[in-house]
Amino acid sequence: MKETIKVKNPATGEMVEEIAVTPEADVEKILSQGNEAFKTWAGVNAHERAALLKEWAEKVKNETENLAEIMTLESGKPLKESLGEVAYAVSYIEWYAEEAKRVYGRIVPSHTETKRLVVTKEPIGLVAAITPWNFPAAMMTRKAGPALAAGCTFVVKPSEETPLTTMRLVELAHEAGIPKEAVQYVNGYGEDIGPVFTRSGLVRKITFTGSTPVGKSLMKDSADTMKHISMELGGHAPLIVAEDADIEFAVEQTLASKFRNAGQTCICANRVIVHEAVVDKFSEQLVSRVKQLKVGNGLDKTVDIGPVINVDGYTKIQNQIEDALKKGARLLSGHQYDKNDEKGYYFVQPTVLDNVEEKMNIMQEETFGPIIPITTFRENKEAVEMANNTPFGLAAYFFTNDYRTGIYFQEHLKFGILGWNDGAPSAAHVPFGGMKESGMGREGGLEGIEPYVETKYMSIGGIQ
Ligand code: SIN
Repeated sequence: MKETIKVKNPATGEMVEEIAVTPEADVEKILSQGNEAFKTWAGVNAHERAALLKEWAEKVKNETENLAEIMTLESGKPLKESLGEVAYAVSYIEWYAEEAKRVYGRIVPSHTETKRLVVTKEPIGLVAAITPWNFPAAMMTRKAGPALAAGCTFVVKPSEETPLTTMRLVELAHEAGIPKEAVQYVNGYGEDIGPVFTRSGLVRKITFTGSTPVGKSLMKDSADTMKHISMELGGHAPLIVAEDADIEFAVEQTLASKFRNAGQTCICANRVIVHEAVVDKFSEQLVSRVKQLKVGNGLDKTVDIGPVINVDGYTKIQNQIEDALKKGARLLSGHQYDKNDEKGYYFVQPTVLDNVEEKMNIMQEETFGPIIPITTFRENKEAVEMANNTPFGLAAYFFTNDYRTGIYFQEHLKFGILGWNDGAPSAAHVPFGGMKESGMGREGGLEGIEPYVETKYMSIGGIQ
């Protein structure tokens, strides 16, 4: 087992910081402290918990610049996006600070005069979270916010690629007055820490954002202790451009969806499916806009697209492009890169391919990179079939100004998140999550606090 994590800047390969891995015995101790702390934190009244969360949100807001810089250094994300992510992270804390006060039970009308039927909600207990490198701040607060608001205690293992943002967020929570044992972090590698979380009987819930294979294995390993599970897993989002769509607008929204964080988001458009009557117009406008995007070190404020996170991500992207070209796709722009294995940085120019077919890997797998594959359709039914032809069901987008076409897509696309004329549907106050192998449970919105509470029903009898 490695004893340290070398956090590297993906734009330069230089080390940002070397941090200690939390030894297994310490992870167990932290879980045990979290479990003890639950006994008091769950009893803190909801208004007080809300006030502490609001104070945390303020502290994070006041440190926006510093957190954004840490995030860009460890993840490569352009600074303007990191600044946006800090605001996004704060919005989850603020939303759940308010929701803390709205965890309602209910009185059920009784079937007999001699009974009263009462339903209450209770926090689940200690929550263990495993968060990803692509949104090191927002994915942490999207889990910690509702957990703490509901009265759960929380231990997070951030990605080994990007632990520094999370560590600072936890320190800020403590500075805000949230008890130290109620929110803690542990550092380490997924394969070491994951099993400690899953086998612990103290952990009552696992919440994970990451790949579908890891999610499946965490679920299997959690079965013995019957933990509650929330899984935000992979995506393979289709983006459909209908014949009547406003093409200029669809192009701008495609860029917003696809190139956020260099295409390394679970909800970004992964397959662009355009009506054959408008594909030439769409592709031409898209390519001309893509050529204006600047790739480089995210600390440079003029950069639009940073590096991809590591060599594995880079290799997958290149393989998908090569596979598509070999099978007949046409390169419209991009497919250049600046790769340096020795130094450890990997930049991929935004790439547009057309003549893409379903047999190509890029149409079957999530890409996690700045590549747009374009394919065409004739009938809306065909577009839906193509879009749904995936085990994933996280997000889908469609562009049309015809309400009948819009409603048809809304009713037939099997995805948890839809963007109708909208390439950026996420927000703290709406549910985020997928169908099929994209996971289970929802984060954000009213739905996002439910997974942290249990329902308790009591029947009061003997009433005269
Ligand atoms: C993700 O894709 O992993 C999260 C993106 C979002 O919250 O918008």
